Amino acid sequence: MQLDITHLALEYENKDPQEILKLALDKFDRISISFSGAEDVILIDMASKIKADFNVFSIDTGRLHPETYQLLDQVREHYGIPLEIVFPESSEVETLVKEKGLFSFYRDGHQECCGIRKVRPLRRKLATLDAWITGQRKDQSPSTRATIPVVQIDAGFSTSNHKIVKFNPLANWSSAQVWQYIVVNKVPYNTLHTKGFISIGCEPCTRTVLPNQHEREARWWWEEAVDKECGFHKANLVRNESGVAR
Ligand code: ADX
Ligand code: SF4
Repeated sequence: MQLDITHLALEYENKDPQEILKLALDKFDRISISFSGAEDVILIDMASKIKADFNVFSIDTGRLHPETYQLLDQVREHYGIPLEIVFPESSEVETLVKEKGLFSFYRDGHQECCGIRKVRPLRRKLATLDAWITGQRKDQSPSTRATIPVVQIDAGFSTSNHKIVKFNPLANWSSAQVWQYIVVNKVPYNTLHTKGFISIGCEPCTRTVLPNQHEREARWWWEEAVDKECGFHKANLVRNESGVAR
């Protein structure tokens, strides 16, 4: 399918998340919502009001919080959807843990573990899709997400013969708007949010933040604040390096 993504990004920049989501679900059959088990749950609620059958996947790194696993199951039942759980390659996890133990990321950085537990399973999943939908927002990370478009060619995961389109319907929404949506629409949410968590990732790599600390400081806090991305959203880093929006 030939779509002018740059044109669509401009046309939809100021539209509601629901309109962007509808565009995505109308234009692509091989498309799925990528659900982290956090406040991106609103994408599932919005999609359920657009059409009955849509796809959702979550990557189970093996290190998620119990509360996140509970939400994944709750969402499956609440919306009656076959939430797909994608796992890392067991042999790769076994080798990493055998050689370096269960907490190597505190010593030599999160990239290796994220590469095995998150990015490679995502790459495998995206190879079966033409487009994916994420809950990324500009306000989540001033250093890496401030300029994300509502739709883009995914420069991190496209190959020369398989272009992947990435929709970010919540790009322009604030955290306050997301939470207003959750409350008004009675959307099930991760109970970690009632325990002081704002941003939620893997259990060993996520913590609560202090008042007025940015939510991104909850993630991989022992590392430099710049470019805190696990590789899931490589396109953000590609764009930053070249300075060119893709
Ligand atoms: S991360 O790259 O730093 O972990 P973040 O937690 O901010 O990402 O989530 C942004 C979006 O990335 C989510 O809304 C979701 O679309 C996707 N995402 C992150 N983690 C996962 C996961 N484990 N499974 C599926 N999608 C995920
Ligand atoms: Fe591993 Fe932490 Fe990355 Fe999860 S967030 S995959 S535990 S380094």
